[in-house]
Amino acid sequence: MASTTLICDTQPWKDLKAHTEDIKKTHLRDLMNDKERCESMMVEFDGMFLDYSRHCATLETMDKLYKLAEAASLKQQINRMYSGEHINSTENRSVLHVALRAPRDAVINSDGKNVVPDVWNVLDKIKDFSEKVRKGSWVGATGKPLKDVIAIGIGGSFLGPLFVHTALQTDPEAVEFAKGRQLRFLANVDPIDVARNIAGLNPETTLVVVVSKTFTTAETMLNARTLREWISSALGPSAVAKHMVAVSTNLTLVEKFGIDPNNAFAFWDWVGGRYSVCSAVGVLPLSLQYGFSIVEKFLKGASSIDEHFRSAPFEKNIPVLLGLLSVWNVSFLGYPARAILPYSQALEKFAPHIQQVSMESNGKGVSIDGVPLPYEAGEIDFGEPGTNGQHSFYQLIHQGRVIPCDFIGIVKSQQPVNLKGEVVSNHDELMSNFFAQPDALAYGKTAEQLLKENVSQHLIPHKTFSGNRPSLSLLLPSLNAYNIGQLLASYEHRVAVEGFVWGINSFDQWGVELGKSLATQVRKQLNGSRTKSEPVEGFNFSTTTLLTRYLQ
Ligand code: F6P
Repeated sequence: MASTTLICDTQPWKDLKAHTEDIKKTHLRDLMNDKERCESMMVEFDGMFLDYSRHCATLETMDKLYKLAEAASLKQQINRMYSGEHINSTENRSVLHVALRAPRDAVINSDGKNVVPDVWNVLDKIKDFSEKVRKGSWVGATGKPLKDVIAIGIGGSFLGPLFVHTALQTDPEAVEFAKGRQLRFLANVDPIDVARNIAGLNPETTLVVVVSKTFTTAETMLNARTLREWISSALGPSAVAKHMVAVSTNLTLVEKFGIDPNNAFAFWDWVGGRYSVCSAVGVLPLSLQYGFSIVEKFLKGASSIDEHFRSAPFEKNIPVLLGLLSVWNVSFLGYPARAILPYSQALEKFAPHIQQVSMESNGKGVSIDGVPLPYEAGEIDFGEPGTNGQHSFYQLIHQGRVIPCDFIGIVKSQQPVNLKGEVVSNHDELMSNFFAQPDALAYGKTAEQLLKENVSQHLIPHKTFSGNRPSLSLLLPSLNAYNIGQLLASYEHRVAVEGFVWGINSFDQWGVELGKSLATQVRKQLNGSRTKSEPVEGFNFSTTTLLTRYLQ
């Protein structure tokens, strides 16, 4: 039975709504002059430094947001998640990705059973298997070592591992471990993606990892059948046993596909696809490429944030602060989008991963009890590494729409370069932009300033920047496996905080189903046995016209 209590009916929500009128009268130019305010909007934990002083918020705003968190029972909701309650109520599942990176001796229960030993059984199995492959004691059908890996998977079975792989690719420690090896990702069902993935690879030296929570996803299964054919046509059907392994929660379907269940790496229903990078989904391909010890550091970084998120007071809690500020921007200030702007090329796949984590989690129209929401939930996430983004969409962010920005900077580059004769190092050049952009957004540039610079009158409106555009800065000491784990967990928990406050279920994804089932109907029309003269039937005029044209 749907309960009608929504967060917007509570007094703290109403107080925040009223408070937006006060905030509209302020400008970041003035707010930034208040040193005490700025100081209390800076938080550090385990090397991560968050400065959110460039948000259109005062200390009073923050107090009101903490009251909103209380009204949403945020603390209790976090505890319910950690204690394995079935908070994903529409799928009747617990949400325990934190267990995937918990220390071996931790106790985290789901349905009365401590799941941590199961997690470590799989981690131990991955460690053992990846070491065998890396050392050449597990070889391909013709006796050659398997030095290349193609991981097949899509959505949560792809984006997270790709993000971490891309981030590690130039980390000096990880580079050492990856010497002579390649890791590629095949996600799209587009045959072009297959062609690009197998280009230059030899089936004799390639291991294929099929990653699918359900082992039913159409794209992944077709790609898996395509690569099974690639292997068996080159090396014979029996080679599949040596060249294909799987990661799934559905070991029955893995076996049906023809992969030995002994070569399957399990995970569990209590891990959502988009939260699965710390399960075998990410740990297996990444361990094959970089070795288990690097991946273990990544898990430890995530675990450090898990502990912080569970125990730190809200004013010092990085994911909680990030989440509450997002709710403030979206639901009160009316800014529906967020730009994720890492000043690090190694983080180029971070925004694409967070797009799924955030938008698949919080893109919902009803409350967890099924009541239509009278307010918008979810955020439109996009982003590119700086400085590339500056030469692309920043124009809109500076003078067009207001889009709160996350600037992510790294103190020590993975690959420093100091050219003789240059004023600053290449990394300092990059970071100059990281420090400058938030101020450009916050302060803007006034007509008076332009007049003083003798700018012609007719250009003044074009060269004026209104400023007062919110951003936050997140500074990491370096970018290694540990910090990458911290970053991932901070954003995962931020999304949960937003969902808890909005009162939605951040852990289901019914919205992806309709398109999938309509594609099944279309697929029937594209069946190879169909003759060209057969009319297309069962669709509206538009789809019939398009399909007929395609089929001719
Ligand atoms: O796009 C929908 C979705 O179910 C995602 O939630 C999931 O990450 C992805 O498909 C892949 O699913 P699977 O791992 O079961 O192949």
